[in-house]
Amino acid sequence: MEKFEIKKHFLLNGQPFKIYSGAVHYFRIAPSEWRLTLLKLKAAGLNTVETYIPWNVHEPEEGQFDFSGRYDVQRFVELAQELGLYVILRPSPYICAEWEFGGLPAWLLKYPDMVVRTNTPRFMAKVEAYYARLFQELVPLQITHGGPVLMMQVENEYGSFGNDKAYLRAIKHLMEANGVDVPLFTSDGSWQQALQAGSLIDDDVFVTANFGSHSPENLAALQVFMQTHHKQWPLMCMEFWDGWFNRWQEPITKRDAASFEQDLQALVDADANFNLYMFRGGTNFGFYNGASSRVGIDYPQITSYDYDAVLHEDGQPSAKYAALQRVLNVTTPAPTGALPRPLASVHRTAQLHLVDVLDALGQHCHSAQPQTFALGSGYGYLFYQTQVAGNHQPEKLQLLDVNDRVDVYVDHQLVTTQYQATLGTPIETPLTPTSTVQLLVENTGRVNYGARLLSPTQQKGLRTGMMVDRHLHYGWDQWALDFSQLAQLNWQTPSPSNYGPTLSQFTFDVSDRHATYLDCSGFGKGVAFINGINLGRFWQDGPTQRLYIPQDFLRLGTNQIVILETTATASDEISFAATQEENLNA
Ligand code: GLA
Repeated sequence: MEKFEIKKHFLLNGQPFKIYSGAVHYFRIAPSEWRLTLLKLKAAGLNTVETYIPWNVHEPEEGQFDFSGRYDVQRFVELAQELGLYVILRPSPYICAEWEFGGLPAWLLKYPDMVVRTNTPRFMAKVEAYYARLFQELVPLQITHGGPVLMMQVENEYGSFGNDKAYLRAIKHLMEANGVDVPLFTSDGSWQQALQAGSLIDDDVFVTANFGSHSPENLAALQVFMQTHHKQWPLMCMEFWDGWFNRWQEPITKRDAASFEQDLQALVDADANFNLYMFRGGTNFGFYNGASSRVGIDYPQITSYDYDAVLHEDGQPSAKYAALQRVLNVTTPAPTGALPRPLASVHRTAQLHLVDVLDALGQHCHSAQPQTFALGSGYGYLFYQTQVAGNHQPEKLQLLDVNDRVDVYVDHQLVTTQYQATLGTPIETPLTPTSTVQLLVENTGRVNYGARLLSPTQQKGLRTGMMVDRHLHYGWDQWALDFSQLAQLNWQTPSPSNYGPTLSQFTFDVSDRHATYLDCSGFGKGVAFINGINLGRFWQDGPTQRLYIPQDFLRLGTNQIVILETTATASDEISFAATQEENLNA
């Protein structure tokens, strides 16, 4: 049995050990690509792989657990061990990571008294139930049990959220009570306030810092904090940001390889340990992208989590691979694998209007007050419909407390789209005595950082309701769209409507499975599925319009792509590409 300790240095079996680690999120990468990714990580000169563990994928509905396929964290960790790598796990109930709600499950919000990331009985009871299941997977993987896991993190950058030590201690104790016996650590910004608020240094929990530049200054700040608390511990940057994430409607963020090399070299020269965030970023498949918040508005992140990292979204090395090898004095060539390639273009085989298939695709509910995303899975789209009695004249409608994006149809005409700053703006529209009002509301991704995690805006959908003139309007039908039902759709059903979101079906044969990119540039805004698997959102506003398809998602023989498009911009052909957009692959 191997032994890992944190003294003045990291000690592995009694010998000083440097942790040179890279982050790879198993849940953002198809399982067939794990092995090659880890081989590349090893060949780059790293000895450890780090991953977060997102609660929302492992407990998608309360009490229902999923540790299979892309979510088989145990398999991922075992694979790392087979390849001779060590592992760092960050199973905090909250992970940030540009992941929906920072990894917190949407179903938590079904409890009105839920206050996430706090030592409140309701939240802690849910963490407790999850941990009881999660640690059955993780405990045997610890180095103390013959596995490769060196240490685990308590919470995540808690110092950028709160300062309640009782909460941090409760999480720590829960981990220990469930069998965690490897060293624990916290990670925070490197400034004193963040370290003070987010660490458990006086409980002997190892302290690390997160930063991506100014290595000497940041290490010095961490050192000061440790010295103040009379600790002699090794210095570790738990998230050395080698790139950055991207949001819709904003230019791609790049971090050049030369500055990365320089700042990483400074870390190594200072004898520090590091975890590169990210080694390979991967993809926000499904509805799992998060959002950043700024003064009351949420800015969702894009589907690609390329991150401008050492490996690109599809696993191909970027210029940072060679830079990393130079810093670590390694010359082993990166193992190569098949490159993504385009497939032949495909013509649309069928099209349906969403309004014609609501009952097939949605969980229906009638209620006086409008429902929120507490109805259904909590992700994606909710469709609302109601009848309003007007007077053959322009009248005023207003949506009170709605998130995140809403298309408003009155009598089958799109009247307006409200998003971010325009949400809730009064709408003047002609109404008849039997007008139909329909709303398509999209949850564009919950925030993953900051105090806005506690805001009622994270309960997506129409909350207070809709005003007609000066009264709240009651009597709603709503459908929570459930895309697990896509296979049930009858594409031959006549679809007489001629307005609103469309579902386009593209059927094609594949005789050679390989990774590719779906090019969505002929489509406005929506989400694409291949063989029932959610590839993520696309949006013509960019900065990217391509969705990565790992080879696992293709089938030999007949394949089906379905595109839900919500802005009346749907091409009758789809094409594929070999790379993500130029600026992401550079
Ligand atoms: C912080 C978080 C990470 C991630 C990065 C930015 O350090 O801890 O989860 O959000 O920022 O990519």
